[in-house]
Amino acid sequence: MNMTIRVAVIGAGLMGADHARIVAEDLPGATLAAICDRDTTRAATVAAPYGAEVASDPEAVIARADIDAVIVASPDVTHAPLSMACIAAGKKVMCEKPLSQSPAECLAVMRAEAAAGRHVMLGFMRRFDQAYVEMKAALDQGRLGRALMMHNFHRNVETPAADFTGAMAITNSAPHEFDVVRHVLGCDYTAISAFQPRRSDARVAPVMMVVETDQHQLVNIEINNNAAYGYDVRAELVGEAGSIAMTHVAYTRSDAALGSHAAYEADWRGRYREAYIRQNRAFLCFVTTGVFPAQASSAWDGYAAAIVAEAGAKALATGQRQPVQMIAKPELYA
Ligand SMILES: NC(=O)c1ccc[n+]([C@@H]2O[C@H](COP(=O)([O-])OP(=O)(O)OC[C@H]3O[C@@H](n4cnc5c(N)ncnc54)[C@H](O)[C@@H]3O)[C@@H](O)[C@H]2O)c1
Repeated sequence: MNMTIRVAVIGAGLMGADHARIVAEDLPGATLAAICDRDTTRAATVAAPYGAEVASDPEAVIARADIDAVIVASPDVTHAPLSMACIAAGKKVMCEKPLSQSPAECLAVMRAEAAAGRHVMLGFMRRFDQAYVEMKAALDQGRLGRALMMHNFHRNVETPAADFTGAMAITNSAPHEFDVVRHVLGCDYTAISAFQPRRSDARVAPVMMVVETDQHQLVNIEINNNAAYGYDVRAELVGEAGSIAMTHVAYTRSDAALGSHAAYEADWRGRYREAYIRQNRAFLCFVTTGVFPAQASSAWDGYAAAIVAEAGAKALATGQRQPVQMIAKPELYA
């Protein structure tokens, strides 16, 4: 009997290459079987060190009898269709965020799961990051009293594209905060407001959001995609009896010339290295046991992130506070 789980990774870009390395090097019990990318040269580069197969047709890879599980790391628009192909093939899938930017498309994935059972785990890996794990534990253990507010900062060095907009900051970058805050607080969102200051140049300015929860908490989120100085994510959860804040994550600090220096990462990959590994180990557990990991993000959570993002983009465009209205939670995700 073949005891190893044969994993295919779809998409061999930045994230796909990282997932491939994790599967090959950090997931005992898994084998990196295939790398699939429309660009087979890229797939071959990622596959070569591990002797994995190279493929170019994602649907064909998903349907293969010798593939047990799939990681989708191709562009956003492919996530929902490829997740549905995995559900149809009876394969568990770890799909990168977002499930879709369209709440309607997320609902279509949920309908497919309602018929076939739980198959989709979403790549909102911050749920596995030790800082958020400790924040959630402090709240759940009653050490902070009732949660009142959560402050969040998400800063990148520069935008990935020159035509990046404030709306894209809300729909592409903020979903990480939308998901992990909802997870840590154990809340749902009821309304969102969004604002932008004005920069002195043509680059996209930061977006500031205030999100209201169904437990009368306030969440603020700064997305600054042109922060210039480094990749920097911060969060503080304020309760009635205390607060808990994320500290700067760095392995070293240099002291010299009467100063102290701690470096920033250039992007998210180093900062969340451990979280990606923990997330993918949870996925492997899901594949082998069939039990959806309690900590992980589901298709329902993907829908929740998409609907607040959609309302947030509308709030920014109109300058008006927007309600966030979700459907009732289906039994499958209870
Ligand atoms: N969880 C996180 O922290 C995080 C961080 C960055 C990106 N992401 C998500 O991961 C996904 C990939 O991002 P990336 O930065 O690696 O992008 P990328 O552009 O570097 O790589 C995408 C790859 O997918 C390939 N591709 C395109 N269409 C395909 C298809 N139909 N089938 C197979 N391959 C296809 C492209 O050729 C490319 O090699 C995006 O959806 C992004 O939102 C998640």
